[in-house]
Amino acid sequence: MGTAMATVSPAVSGGMPVSDPTRGARATSLGFAPVAADIAEAERIFDRTLAPHRGPFGPLIEHLRHYRGKRLRPALLLLTAKACGKVAPAHHPLAAVMEMIHTATLVHDDVLDESDLRRHAATFNAGWGNKVSILLGDMLFTHAFHLASTVDGRAAQITGEATNRVCAGELRQVTERGNLELTEADYFAVIDGKTAALTECCGRLGALYAGAPEEVVAKLASYGRSLGLAFQIADDVLDLVGTEDAAGKTLGTDLEQQKLTLPVIHCLQRLPAAESAKLRDAIRAGGDGLGLRVLHALERTQSVAYAKRHAEEFARSAKEQLACLPRTECRTILEGVADWSVRREK
Ligand code: IPE
Ligand code: IPE
Ligand code: MG
Ligand code: MG
Repeated sequence: MGTAMATVSPAVSGGMPVSDPTRGARATSLGFAPVAADIAEAERIFDRTLAPHRGPFGPLIEHLRHYRGKRLRPALLLLTAKACGKVAPAHHPLAAVMEMIHTATLVHDDVLDESDLRRHAATFNAGWGNKVSILLGDMLFTHAFHLASTVDGRAAQITGEATNRVCAGELRQVTERGNLELTEADYFAVIDGKTAALTECCGRLGALYAGAPEEVVAKLASYGRSLGLAFQIADDVLDLVGTEDAAGKTLGTDLEQQKLTLPVIHCLQRLPAAESAKLRDAIRAGGDGLGLRVLHALERTQSVAYAKRHAEEFARSAKEQLACLPRTECRTILEGVADWSVRREK
């Protein structure tokens, strides 16, 4: 964990590793071809929204322009729209809003997790420090809400409600840090907020602004929520067993920060009491050998397989929600996204 990039300063940011701008599009290996032009339009809106800050904060905004991930949330919103009938003009700013909020949470999350690698590039905290990162995250949030309000009041309200849940989820995770008695129910409450609220919002906005009937909007929102739960469980497995090369971000921070995730919670429950107590002591103490020790324990209790089964179940339930839609290419891609969310390596 941790790389030399933590020492990169804004003064040398020209030399900072930047992510390959095409990587996001290739990242899921699913291809979002039917909405590729719509994703590109959302990206233009994203860039245009931040463009006025280029003067005073050039290198920061330039780094943000290269800071492209999988673009999963805009893709979800736009694929949902098209699967429900059509992509309307409102969908493009809304897709940009979703990615802006997501990016804001990542900029803040990397401060919280003390991560220095994100999207195969230096994090903002590694390059500019925590203070700049907090304010950049704030700026992304406020631009996102302003942009949502240019669509209409309903969009602003839905976006605000979802982001309230995201923030509450992140806050709960931080306040539960070091609680080594965390239950599965606590864990699910955290990920339902921090991750599933936004993917749910993507499904809801995609369907709503395509003019879908209320019951279809509810199904697509439910698709997004279940997908988000599957996605975050898989992410938490990757944090334990993935590789930073493939993921392009700092891993291992959950244990380092004493944030218990589903595999570890299951493992602590399954181990005999004395061993479980010893593992808790080891997590509390931290240190270099901790990762390997936890991996051995997870293997013994088959806890990674247990977490993956949960993720698969959420992916299955996500796909079930799509039965209300006509069989189109976009529906098939949405089904594929649910399957991919569990087996992904990045
Ligand atoms: C990372 O999300 C944060 C989580 C919810 C786990 P993504 O994996 O979608 O990140 P990017 O946008 O592709 O970088
Ligand atoms: C993602 O949590 C943060 C939000 C969903 C807001 P993680 O801490 O697991 O995300 P990564 O692993 O750093 O991408
Ligand atoms: Mg993190
Ligand atoms: Mg993670």
